[in-house]
Amino acid sequence: MTNSIRLALLLGLQLAAGAAFTGCGSDSDPEMDAPANPGGGGAKDPAGQAGTLQILNAPLYSAFVEGHEATLPVTVKGVKGAKFSSSDTSVAIVTDTADGATITIKKDGSTTITAKTDDDSGSAKLTVTKFTEAQWTLGEARYSKAELAIVPAPGEAVSLLALANPAAKRDAAGACNTCHTAQAKTLKIENTPTQIAGYSDQDLITIFTKGMKPPAAEMKSRIPPIAWGMFHAWEVTEEEKAGLIAYLRTQPPKANPAMIDYGVTLCPGAPPPMLGDTMIMLCDNNGKPVSIPGLPGAGGGTPSTGGADAGSGTSTSTADAGAPAADGG
Ligand code: HEC
Repeated sequence: MTNSIRLALLLGLQLAAGAAFTGCGSDSDPEMDAPANPGGGGAKDPAGQAGTLQILNAPLYSAFVEGHEATLPVTVKGVKGAKFSSSDTSVAIVTDTADGATITIKKDGSTTITAKTDDDSGSAKLTVTKFTEAQWTLGEARYSKAELAIVPAPGEAVSLLALANPAAKRDAAGACNTCHTAQAKTLKIENTPTQIAGYSDQDLITIFTKGMKPPAAEMKSRIPPIAWGMFHAWEVTEEEKAGLIAYLRTQPPKANPAMIDYGVTLCPGAPPPMLGDTMIMLCDNNGKPVSIPGLPGAGGGTPSTGGADAGSGTSTSTADAGAPAADGG
């Protein structure tokens, strides 16, 4: 991995860790204000039905895999108690819930999901792709491989930050669940059916093979898109692409709490981070200072004394060895 990738990751994670520490209170972050609909679609009925209720994540996508039921909780922006319906109940049926509705997929095809209140309505097109059991099994295997996507330097924990160490490796063919779901070794980012419902099948492939979301989609972590794009381009075969879509869309729905584990936090006693401050003192989850060989100003100090004296740390601090200026990007 080049120095510039390491630097971008490191700076991204410093911001991410700082944000996790201070809470998501920053109102100057334009990404957090991005529209909630990744696909960028509105709730306009394709058939021209009037209505302003906005079904979140519209237009919606799901999968039909025999033997693996796909259920998709949906909500209307700012409204509870709407009554939902499906224009083609052979493709999908809906059950109203306290928050919105749960869509249950019956077969591939498309249907229009409509939400109605006493005085308003809104619709969303739902497109369902068919996959086979064999594809699903391949997807599960790719997602949960034994090989980790992050191979840390000896003695280091599996965390995204470990990648900043030149002795660490990123295995582009490694397991998705190195970082995804509550069982992951790091980050624990969810990708629930509802969360990815606004991404078309092609959008999903671009997300996991190129590290790029559709233009209006928000970042759910605080990792800057450019840093994310540098590590989220995974090696996935054609067959695995279909398999991963089938597998992800048929996962049991669950709430998506903000439980991102960046693997680093501000060191205990360190001063609050400033945006763009490369001297932030980072510690691992056990409070042990993290130092990154070859990157100036990153950890290695003794934070409890105020952290001003980087020379007192254990890092040999080869400040020039990896000077990013020499890398030129
Ligand atoms: C090194 C950690 C890591 C690995 C391994 C990884 N991801 Fe991700 N993934 C992330 C992060 C971080 C995000 C969150 C981006 C953001 O802030 O929204 C993400 C986001 C996603 C999203 C979008 C979720 C959303 O709500 O927008 C999908 C889908 C996804 N990953 C699928 C995959 C698949 C499939 C694989 C395996 C081929 C994979 N990921 C491997 C870290 C990882």
